[in-house]
Amino acid sequence: MITVNVKRYDPVTEESYIESYEIEEINKMKVLDALSRINKKYDANIAYRYSCRAGQCGSCAIKVNGKAKLACKAEINDNDILEPLDLPVIKDLIVDRTELNNYVKNLNMYMASEDCDLPKTKPDLIKPEEYALCDQLRGCIDCYSCISMCPVIKKTGLYVGPYFMRGFSNIEFDPREDETLSERAIENGIYYCTSCGECSKTCPREIDIYGKAIEKLRAKIFLENEGPLPEHQQIRKAVMETGRSVQAKEDSEYPEGFIKKYNKTHKNNNGKIAFFTGCMIDNRLPWIAEYLINVLEKLGYTVDVPEEQVCCGSPLLRTGQIDIVQDLVDKNYEIFKDYDTILTVCAGCGATLKNNYPEYGVKLNVLNISEFLEDKLNPEDMNEVNVKVTYHDPCHLARSQGITEEPRNILKNIKGVEFVEMEKPDQCCGAGGGVKSGKPEIAEALADDKVDMIEKLDVDHVVTICPFCEFNINDSLQKKNSKTSVINIMELLNKAYE
Ligand code: SF4
Ligand code: SF4
Ligand code: FES
Repeated sequence: MITVNVKRYDPVTEESYIESYEIEEINKMKVLDALSRINKKYDANIAYRYSCRAGQCGSCAIKVNGKAKLACKAEINDNDILEPLDLPVIKDLIVDRTELNNYVKNLNMYMASEDCDLPKTKPDLIKPEEYALCDQLRGCIDCYSCISMCPVIKKTGLYVGPYFMRGFSNIEFDPREDETLSERAIENGIYYCTSCGECSKTCPREIDIYGKAIEKLRAKIFLENEGPLPEHQQIRKAVMETGRSVQAKEDSEYPEGFIKKYNKTHKNNNGKIAFFTGCMIDNRLPWIAEYLINVLEKLGYTVDVPEEQVCCGSPLLRTGQIDIVQDLVDKNYEIFKDYDTILTVCAGCGATLKNNYPEYGVKLNVLNISEFLEDKLNPEDMNEVNVKVTYHDPCHLARSQGITEEPRNILKNIKGVEFVEMEKPDQCCGAGGGVKSGKPEIAEALADDKVDMIEKLDVDHVVTICPFCEFNINDSLQKKNSKTSVINIMELLNKAYE
C-alpha cells in the first residue's frame, strides 16, 4: 500500500485541508490513475482536470511535492503530496485559468506581419537555420506550470512570467514576423527574471524558457539598443575597462584582489589543477579563495591561480550583453586550456563555463569545488566544528549544474556539524539574472522569503557556494537582526582543517 496526501479545497466553506488516502502500490502508476483509484475506493469526489492523458492538452498540471507536473505523466510515490498549481483554486486540484487566458488574449500574442494580406505568386523560402531560435520554443501546451513555479510573479505584478516571455520570443524569433516585440517584453518585465531556471526545469515539453527565450530575447533587445538597465550597462563597462565585473575595495586586505596578492607570494607552477576565482571571489570575498587554497593544500593538492584570467561573462550573458562575451571566452580559453581540471567556487561562473562556453566553441573540464572534494574528505583528519547549519541551493548550482547532493554529503561529513534542511532549499533567493543590481526590491523580497525559512531552523549558519546568494541572503538576515549568518562551504571546511 502507498499513502497519497491530497490538498482539498471546499469552495462552499472556503476551507482547505490535507486528506490522506491509502491505495494499492502499482509499479509506475501515474498520479492521474492514483487520483481515480482514490475516488473509486473512498468515494472521495476529489476534483481534478484531465483530457488527453498523453501530455498534450496541459490541463492536468498540479503540484507534486511542491513541483509542477503533469498528473498524466508523473509517477505516484509513497507519501506524495498533491496540491493545485499556485493559481486561484476553484475546487481541490482545479485552478481558475480565466485570468491568465484573458491575459493571453489581451496581449495579442500572435504574429502580425504587415504584408500578410499581399497576394503572393510564390511563397518566400525560409531556411531551417532561420527557424532555429523559435523552433526550440514551440510545443507549449499551455499547462501554466511554469507560471505556477516562477518565484518572481508572486512578488510583483509587473512581471507577466515565463509563459508569456516564451510566447513573445517565439514570435520575435520567427522569421515571418516583421514587427518587434522588444518593447512589449520590456514593459511586461523581462528584466525581473532572476534566471533561477525553475521554469525550464518544470516545463513538461522541456522548453528551455529561461535560456532559449528570456536570455536570447534580452540579447536581441541589447543588440537593438533598447536595453538593458543602466545598472547592467555599468557592469559591462567595468568588464571592458578592467576585465572584472566588480572591483576590490581599496580599504580591503586585498586592495588588488586575491589573485594578485596570492601570486606575489606563490608562483604558479604549471600544475594540473587551476582555480577560476570569478570576479566576486577575487575582489569581494577573497578570503574564500584563501580558504579554498588552504584546504586543498592540506589535502595535498597544488593549485594554480592564473593571473590573467578575466570575468567568465556570466553577468553579461544573463543580461543579454553578449557583444564582448566571445572575447572573454577566448581569453579564458588561452589561459586555462592546458589544465586537466578547473575548479570554481561560484555557482554562476561554473554554470557559465560549463553550459555557455560550448556555445562559444570552448570546452573546458570544470568542476565545482563540492564535486571535486566530495570523495576526498576524511572526518578523522578534521577538527570538530560544533555548529548547526542548513544549506541553500544556489539556482546556478542546483538547476544549471545539477549539483545538490555533493555539498550536502560534504556538510554531513564535517565533524561536529549538525545539518538540517529548510523547507524549500532550492527556492531562488533573488540574487541572479541582474536582478540584485537592476531590480533590487525583487531581490530583497525573495531573500526575505528565504530568510523566513532559515529563521525557523535556529541554525548558526546557512551554507552556500555562491557569492551572489551569500550577499543577498546576508543583507536580509542583517536587516532582520538574525543570529544566523551565511557562510561559504569553504569557510566551514577551512575551520575543520585549520
Ligand atoms: S528563470 Fe526563474 S524567475 Fe525567470 S521566468 Fe523562469 S522561473 Fe521565473
Ligand atoms: S512553456 Fe512549458 S511549462 Fe510553460 S505553459 Fe508551456 S508547456 Fe507548460
Ligand atoms: S491529461 Fe492532457 S496533458 Fe495530462
